[in-house]
Amino acid sequence: MNEQWTRREFVKTAAALGAASAIATPAWARAGRSASELRVGVIGCGGRGTGAALQALNADPGAVLWSMGDLFPEKMQPCLEYVQSELRGIAEERGTTAGAHKINVPDERRFSGFDAFERVMASGVDVVLLTTPPAFRPQHLAAAVDAGKHVFCEKPVAVDAPGVRSVLESARRAREKKLSLMSGFCWRYQDQVRETFAQLHAGAIGELHTVQSTYNTTGWVPAKARQDGWSDAEFQARNWQYFHPLSGDHVVEQAVHAIDWIGWAMRDAAPERCFAVGGRQTRPDVPETGNVYDHFSITYEYPRGVRAYHTCRHWPNTPSDNSMYALGARGSCTMKPWTNEHVIAGNAAWRGSAPGNDMYQREHDVLFGAIRLGEPVNDGVPMAHSTLLAIMGRMAAYTGAVVTWDQAMNSAEDLNPNAWTMGDRPTPELAVPGKTRFS
Ligand SMILES: NC(=O)c1ccc[n+]([C@@H]2O[C@H](COP(=O)([O-])OP(=O)(O)OC[C@H]3O[C@@H](n4cnc5c(N)ncnc54)[C@H](O)[C@@H]3O)[C@@H](O)[C@H]2O)c1
Repeated sequence: MNEQWTRREFVKTAAALGAASAIATPAWARAGRSASELRVGVIGCGGRGTGAALQALNADPGAVLWSMGDLFPEKMQPCLEYVQSELRGIAEERGTTAGAHKINVPDERRFSGFDAFERVMASGVDVVLLTTPPAFRPQHLAAAVDAGKHVFCEKPVAVDAPGVRSVLESARRAREKKLSLMSGFCWRYQDQVRETFAQLHAGAIGELHTVQSTYNTTGWVPAKARQDGWSDAEFQARNWQYFHPLSGDHVVEQAVHAIDWIGWAMRDAAPERCFAVGGRQTRPDVPETGNVYDHFSITYEYPRGVRAYHTCRHWPNTPSDNSMYALGARGSCTMKPWTNEHVIAGNAAWRGSAPGNDMYQREHDVLFGAIRLGEPVNDGVPMAHSTLLAIMGRMAAYTGAVVTWDQAMNSAEDLNPNAWTMGDRPTPELAVPGKTRFS
């Protein structure tokens, strides 16, 4: 699991939500259904899908896990068992039998294959959790909105510009249809970080002129050696992080969290352009590490000379850092959320004091609260914006070109022009700046 989630947190949140749900507008009630039930479908039952399923069930007393979908059938049972065992533990802790009713996923509502998402959506769910590799997100989100589902949509929301444009259109349609769309840019739901951004936006360091963020780590998920019988597509799908058509490369898949801080600091305004460097220096040169780089460094140029810098890397035996630094006309801000360091130096010196919270849980609390109250939440524009910021950085690093925001937004580069099926699929080439062309 990527996230820590404690039973104590569950008990606290569930107790708080008991009160909230009592004032809910049962707009979702349907004939023959318990008025309190909200059926949840999870699409992509890996680490994040498992965490999100649990958080969804935790967020609302009436939330029931109703359907599951994954490319690979064997991924569903461990996900279900983990959620079940956590619910059992929670119930024991609370001294109740509550929780058992929260799982209702018979075999006929478990679907595998590339079309699993369609079948989950047709299974009678109210809310879908989109937690596959990001390449599939635009297609899955469009289908969810078509089908009238509320959505939890993990980050990043696309791997290329056609995907971002599709997501923006889906977000617009979700708004029209009064559906809730919650993004997985979880730092936007972490109170200590929110408090820091509130300071920045209130002018605590004066007008912002420079932002820097880092996502420097020593490694990534272990790659899986190819097994007999795996087609190219299966090999790539099982190592999706390492193939940029599936993940967008690590700058898009992972470091986008820290690039989102830049977007947030700039109030989600677009930069004019960016340039970047990147490469693959320390990754073992084996087929399972695909074609992704292991480092990027991007400079974003905003109007009036404002600049933002982002660095990310996967280099073993080097220091890790995941922080943001901001400089303004009257001071500076250092944000190191993993060690709860939120400091402003300058005229309005300040140190953050907000209590911590489980940001992953908060996303679901907000989502389900919005559904219950009939007041949709819609993170569509910022989530698409931050994803494109990361994509334009990759485009600039891969090509060596200066890439404007408009060029990035209008780019025709479709990383997955052919529908995914299990079969032959060449490994994409390693990008070489000056040779790889922007398109
Ligand atoms: N917000 C966060 O902090 C955070 C943390 C971890 C992961 N994530 C994001 O969540 C997403 C999933 O990451 P993960 O770590 O859970 O990966 P994972 O590999 O553990 O899980 C992905 C699952 O999707 C399945 N899958 C692949 N293609 C599919 C398809 N076309 N249809 C249905 N299922 C498919 C895989 O078989 C796998 O079970 C990624 O976008 C990742 O960036 C976000």
